[in-house]
Amino acid sequence: MKKKEIISGEAIQKRIREMGNEISRDFQGKPLITVCVLKGAFIFYADLIRSLSMDPEMDFVRMSSYGQQTFSSGKVHFSKDMELSIKDKHVIIVEDIVDTGKSISYLSRVLEARGPLSIKICALIDKHERREIPVKVDYAGFVLQKGFIVGYGLDYAEKYRNLSGIYELTPEE
Ligand code: PRP
Repeated sequence: MKKKEIISGEAIQKRIREMGNEISRDFQGKPLITVCVLKGAFIFYADLIRSLSMDPEMDFVRMSSYGQQTFSSGKVHFSKDMELSIKDKHVIIVEDIVDTGKSISYLSRVLEARGPLSIKICALIDKHERREIPVKVDYAGFVLQKGFIVGYGLDYAEKYRNLSGIYELTPEE
């Protein structure tokens, strides 16, 4: 596979500062909990929370990764659920990427039933080409149409998560 940088580490950090300012403005003085969706979002999450000028509660979830079949059969569950209550709190779900929209729509639905004040979606990459469920990303870092991307938390066969920028992978000629 060939790897070409499409978003530099510097550009990501600059955009995260803007997103952090926007989220801080929107939730100043309000009870907020940020939820990191493992594994992909862990690097974005770590940078985003440090760009906030407030102190939200933090938690982590990991969805079962049985592949897409599980989503369509409606039998998705968590391999790690949240540990904190979200009742009467504003929630921001933090994702590395929203692609088909299946993961985030499932997660939003499950969390909605737990009585939060609101749920917003924050994703570093809002990718449209394969969207199947109309999901509104409230805080989107970068909008992409297509491409197989890795880096900054995103993997290919569990590699490349460590890269500081976002790269597009293409087959070797
Ligand atoms: C990726 C990504 C999102 C989801 C987006 O996770 O982190 O959670 O897929 O895809 P969708 O919009 O099509 O549902 P993945 O299942 O690859 O697990 P990982 O984060 O552990 O790499």
